[in-house]
Amino acid sequence: MAELLQLRGIQKTYTLGKTEVTALRGVDLAVSPGEFTVVTGPSGSGKTTLLNIIGCLDRASAGTYVLDGEDVSARDFDALAEVRNRKIGFIFQGFNLVPVFDVLENIEFPLALRPDVTAAQARERARQLADAVGLSSFVRHRPDELSGGQRQRVAIARALVTQPRLVLADEPTANLDSHTSEQILELMLGLNRQEGVTFLFSTHDPRVVAHAHRALSIQDGRMVDGALAPASGAGH
Ligand SMILES: Nc1ncnc2c1ncn2[C@@H]1O[C@H](COP(=O)(O)OP(=O)(O)O)[C@@H](O)[C@H]1O
Ligand SMILES: [Mg+2]
Repeated sequence: MAELLQLRGIQKTYTLGKTEVTALRGVDLAVSPGEFTVVTGPSGSGKTTLLNIIGCLDRASAGTYVLDGEDVSARDFDALAEVRNRKIGFIFQGFNLVPVFDVLENIEFPLALRPDVTAAQARERARQLADAVGLSSFVRHRPDELSGGQRQRVAIARALVTQPRLVLADEPTANLDSHTSEQILELMLGLNRQEGVTFLFSTHDPRVVAHAHRALSIQDGRMVDGALAPASGAGH
């Protein structure tokens, strides 16, 4: 099967004034469609940097990145934003919901950028997703009227509304209690099984790691093991 993601020799150096910080030192990674993969590693190891590059929010300093058959390595930021909007759903650690929008408005927001989707279609899709994540009774609530777990559900629904090939999440359960984390994880595993959505997370949470098809470890900007081939015998 063709890989959904193929990263080769990805490097990232940040420049802070005269200082350079190297966050990624040659990462190779391949992910197949339908996988549920997590990346673990200590704070500062490069997880967020890697997810930002995979999510087309940032560019690598060197290396190649092929996403769903398109080489996006050399794209400028405008072109990356366009690819991101077509192919990727991103769940941010702090949820990044719009405070003055209600649940439906937050979920349908990414569709506002899509000329091929009418307002009525966007609303309909947002309602279906609100339903799928168990928020149909809360569609008119604003984020400050929701619990942490409910906000995270909104963020998941918003990430899925464009029907992306890939959903990325940076420590999606970091701000949730263990019971809520469990529910959110079940929700995402269900979407993976039923809809075949490909998930790639960073996490510190051992329960999330235990449920993943494949766990990768990053240390000091390098993958420690297992990044190229799916682990044998893993999965559901
Ligand atoms: N915008 C930035 N500017 C400069 N250095 C950064 C920036 N973002 C991350 N870094 C540095 O890159 C390294 C990796 O950070 P990060 O990707 O956030 O790791 P993690 O998510 O695993 O904690 C760290 O040394 C961090 O300080
Ligand atoms: Mg991080």
